[in-house]
Amino acid sequence: MAAFALKINGQTHQVDVDPNTPLLWAIRDGAGLTGTKYGCGVAQCGACTVYVDDQTVRSCSMPVSAIGTSEITTIEGLDTKEAKAVQTAWVALDVPQCGYCQSGQVMSATALLSINPTPTDRDIDLAMNGNICRCATYVRIRAAIHGAAKSLEG
Ligand code: FES
Ligand code: FES
Repeated sequence: MAAFALKINGQTHQVDVDPNTPLLWAIRDGAGLTGTKYGCGVAQCGACTVYVDDQTVRSCSMPVSAIGTSEITTIEGLDTKEAKAVQTAWVALDVPQCGYCQSGQVMSATALLSINPTPTDRDIDLAMNGNICRCATYVRIRAAIHGAAKSLEG
């Protein structure tokens, strides 16, 4: 076991875990932030997506010891204008079905709009490729990203 001071959503959380513990479990069990989900555990589904600094990361596959002083953002701390536009569009289009994958979807969609405010269908498909939805909400996800982009125009 070792102590880590993780900066998550602007607050420091002390977690005492094995250094090889995936960041996901430090976030969920150590910091008590359960919006980030466990899906596959092998960086394939995107359910565990968080930002480390400004990069999307599969937290199931990154050891907590690799974080250092980086800033982590989870779904609970997402409050940029792009994030608000995405969340509004998600509600307007009733995107989630079971909802399990959706915090990861919202993290990836927000990251996309932060770097590309007018994504094409292909841009969206490429950016969202690593986020799997077992309920197959892909059509509504794509429409909601376009809707969020439109709401951010001007
Ligand atoms: S749980 Fe991390 S990518 Fe699936
Ligand atoms: S909404 Fe059910 S897995 Fe995506």
